[in-house]
Amino acid sequence: MCGIFGYVGKKSSAAKIVFDGLKLLEYRGYDSWGIAIKIKNKFIIEKHVGKIGDAKINLPEGDLGIGHTRWATHGGVTVANAHPHLDCTKSITVVHNGIVENFQEIKDKLVKLGHKFVSETDTEVIPHLIEENLKHIGFASSVRNSFNKLRGLNAIVVANAVSKEIVAAKNGSPLIAGIGSGEFLVSSDIVGIVPHTRNVIFLKDNEMVILGKEIQLISLPTGKKLSIRPEKIDWKFENTSKGKFQDFMIKEIHEQPLIVRNIAKNYSESLKKLANYVQNAKGTFFIGAGTAFHAGLSGTYFFSKIAKKHVNTTVASEFNYLEDFLTKESLVIVLSQSGETIDVVEPVNRAKSKKSKIVAITNSLGSTLYRMADYNVLLNAGPEKAVASTKAYIAKLSVLLMLTFALINKEERAKEILLRTAKEMERLLESKQVLEIKKIAKFLSKTRNIYALGRGASYPSALEAALKIKEVTYIPTEGFPGGELKHGTIALIGHGTPVIVFAPQDETYESIISNAIEIKSRGGVIIGISDRQSSAFDYFISVKDVEEGSYLAQVVVAQLLAYYMAVELKLDPDMPRNLAKSVTVK
Ligand code: F6R
Repeated sequence: MCGIFGYVGKKSSAAKIVFDGLKLLEYRGYDSWGIAIKIKNKFIIEKHVGKIGDAKINLPEGDLGIGHTRWATHGGVTVANAHPHLDCTKSITVVHNGIVENFQEIKDKLVKLGHKFVSETDTEVIPHLIEENLKHIGFASSVRNSFNKLRGLNAIVVANAVSKEIVAAKNGSPLIAGIGSGEFLVSSDIVGIVPHTRNVIFLKDNEMVILGKEIQLISLPTGKKLSIRPEKIDWKFENTSKGKFQDFMIKEIHEQPLIVRNIAKNYSESLKKLANYVQNAKGTFFIGAGTAFHAGLSGTYFFSKIAKKHVNTTVASEFNYLEDFLTKESLVIVLSQSGETIDVVEPVNRAKSKKSKIVAITNSLGSTLYRMADYNVLLNAGPEKAVASTKAYIAKLSVLLMLTFALINKEERAKEILLRTAKEMERLLESKQVLEIKKIAKFLSKTRNIYALGRGASYPSALEAALKIKEVTYIPTEGFPGGELKHGTIALIGHGTPVIVFAPQDETYESIISNAIEIKSRGGVIIGISDRQSSAFDYFISVKDVEEGSYLAQVVVAQLLAYYMAVELKLDPDMPRNLAKSVTVK
């Protein structure tokens, strides 16, 4: 969460460089944004509330600048709370990603010392603390000393207009330094660096980099100089645009058949290897957050049903409290589109300290989880720009399905199922089906709360449908297993309550149809997603039976429903309120 970017070097276009960098990082938070540019011994700052979009900047030329795109934690979304923040002299400025847990305590001391605060943020204590330390020690030492006083998981970039230096330090969120010719950059994401240089350093936790005339890497706990070994990045970065589509979300939904085909055709070897890890492990665990957790949950059903193998799936942030039984023989398979989610990184750190093996199934080469893992499976789904995850979910399910079949030496069968699934997805994306989906989306967008129901491997589909609808329409939606209906939720069903029912051709069919009938007899309106019509359905979207692939195809319908509901409600499906694409704050 929050994108941070900095430039120092020979060019005088720092404002434009930082501004362009922020545009690439906007997916990390889009409440507000700001840029600071060094003019002589002070910083000039421009800040705005809202998304960067097509904004123009009004800053002078300069050769040092830092910028930030915010996802608010402490303090409302206001210009005053937007970063960068200044010290009293206006020669130190800071951008920050994370939460300073002890900010109040630090602030109280600084106020007593006469420092003036202009925002409600936790961040603002940092420039003032550095200013205070500067009275006794040099700039880099002041940053180090101040950073070591902050509690919580933080990444900061600090600029000094007097010494013309940038110092970046981290113990949580990602930071990458770029080494150009006569210039240095720092960014929360490699995408901000590669337009300038492919020579980079991925900062590790508890490291600090000083960028000025030269570059130095310092250990935060000891203050000792560390040797610098820049990495040369030779990966390809795709430049994505919406193309013929109105929004990234719908574009990404349409990319799914291609992604499924790629996995079907090219992943058997790497998943065979991963299957060996699973076979040899004493205990396998899937962890992920949000949509990635739902993918893991689907994996549990695949493992059990197809490979007769048990796997534990947990919401990543809860895994912290369930790790006591991990050993060096445990296998932790992490699912994450971004590879940066702090709720996933944290338990992985702990699992590593117990010497458990880590496998990362991510969409982001070089991301934190990618670098932490012992074995990687890249989804190759291409950049996912829409905040609501669609194609990464389908890619994860494809990988998990193939992995499951690899456990019983039947990868070819998985391939055949996935190829048929891709075809079915294409059919669902055709205009005739979409017309029906739009009609239902129109009806749903006028409702106050929605339920989604599934059993077995369709239970994660119900959870995912509910999450997608919540995220992009803000309509309260609850997903739950059909069997739980009578244990509470049925009390909420009244006249006209819409319920999405996943009824594929599997052992759950009869029971889920019974649930649908129970809801209908209490006035509920049933949206059936199935391969066959039923008298229980008020609306029906047909998804052809593609065996286990049906659990992928039926979610495409839910994604489309959510997207067209957002369009109907005139909401931005790509950047929903309060959300960010990469969740790097706990
Ligand atoms: C939902 C969504 C989130 C993410 C979650 C984990 O549409 O996008 O629930 O799935 O924040 O993100 P990653 O997969 O990047 O770890």
